[in-house]
Amino acid sequence: MAAFFTFTPSVTVATSTLPALSQRPGFVAWLKNLAVWLLPISMLIMGADALAASAGDVQQGQALYEARCFGCHSVDANRIGPKHANLIGRKAGSISDFEYSPALRGAKIVWNEKTLDRWLQDPESYVPGQQMDVSVSKAEDRKNLIAYLKTLSTKTAKK
Ligand code: HEC
Repeated sequence: MAAFFTFTPSVTVATSTLPALSQRPGFVAWLKNLAVWLLPISMLIMGADALAASAGDVQQGQALYEARCFGCHSVDANRIGPKHANLIGRKAGSISDFEYSPALRGAKIVWNEKTLDRWLQDPESYVPGQQMDVSVSKAEDRKNLIAYLKTLSTKTAKK
């Protein structure tokens, strides 16, 4: 029995504060089982959190978009920058009625999570000669922005 009492500090507390219960056969084994189950369950919960974080937060992305991109871009209309509807999967520089720089129009890039992350981090080093003089230095911000941009691909783009 002594070995069970030193199994973990929490078991020591539980069994000493609940002497009646701890004397029942099976109770200590039940506690041990609980400990064995709690570990993978808490790891699953933490893992799900990490996954959600790596996918980016759409609402934060939308707020960032409104604050930092909307001055030049919108979803359905070209402004100073090209419209962003259906951006994911579209070739860079391919909106026909937007006047891109020759550099971006000629770039062999298809927009996806990876290429957008590079573009937003430093457009000029990715596509020298391009004309978007804006970058997003924080990786977390880029991730959230991209999560939001991905939602625009289900909306219908106006021609
Ligand atoms: C100061 C104006 C301005 C701001 C602010 C701006 N952009 Fe741009 N963006 C442009 C211009 C201009 C282009 C076209 C560049 C070219 O032709 O070289 C562009 C191009 C793009 C493209 C390429 C689209 C395509 O059709 O290939 C993406 C993606 C993009 N911007 C995302 C963003 C995001 C996300 C933000 C906010 C963090 C942002 N931009 C902020 C002006 C801006």
